[in-house]
Amino acid sequence: MFRILRGKDYDDMSRIAANVISAQVTLMPECVLGLATGSSPIGTYSQLIRWHEDGLIDFSGVTSVNLDEYVGLDGSDDQSYRYFMNRHLFDHVNINPKNTYVPNGKAFDTKKECERYDQMIHNLGGIDLQLLGLGNNGHIGFNEPADSFAKGTHQVNLTESTIKANSRFFDKTEDVPTQALTMGIGNILQAGKILIVVNGEGKADIVKKAFFGPITPQVPASILQFHKNVTLVGDEAALSLI
Ligand code: GLP
Repeated sequence: MFRILRGKDYDDMSRIAANVISAQVTLMPECVLGLATGSSPIGTYSQLIRWHEDGLIDFSGVTSVNLDEYVGLDGSDDQSYRYFMNRHLFDHVNINPKNTYVPNGKAFDTKKECERYDQMIHNLGGIDLQLLGLGNNGHIGFNEPADSFAKGTHQVNLTESTIKANSRFFDKTEDVPTQALTMGIGNILQAGKILIVVNGEGKADIVKKAFFGPITPQVPASILQFHKNVTLVGDEAALSLI
């Protein structure tokens, strides 16, 4: 099933996406949520925090696994994805911090860390709902355009366009890490449900390519056309071409 849910603007889209996550947690309080960073899901997280504060959503049974992390950044670094997750969600809801997983970007042996991460997802019984953003070049997690689809968690070199896009969060472009650990396309496809959030006119073209264009590793998100349960939530601008 492929659903497209249209929000009027960023707040509306965030509320719709939060509704999907809230339904998942309500129906399955002990679920495993796959979570994402980037600017697109921040509004979704803010809405979930507000509902949590109003007593409408309980994260006590939830486990989370994040898609990716920069290589070389410690979780205490304010640019790390672990820090992002604590700041934008975990610190404000009643999820058990011990049940929140993000790849360790400081691991001495990154190959081992990737294997450990895959094993951990397997031991959890897989991901019930995976939240995704969409990179400007069609990347999901940090699965950049490539000649093939990567299966498991792996280390990647970030493309120039991704480094440039992410430099807006750093003081200097030179500070943007050039490598990351990311779940593979295989990990993402194994999730029971996919929820992808997109906003802004800058995403309109890649949204069309990813969901209505050819399935190719050059547009990593295009593989989602093969998934059985995808919900695309966007604002009017991002969905304007579809
Ligand atoms: C980063 C993240 C992705 C995210 C993408 C888009 O590269 N690794 O998970 O989807 O940025 O970010 P934004 O939502 O800010 O456009």
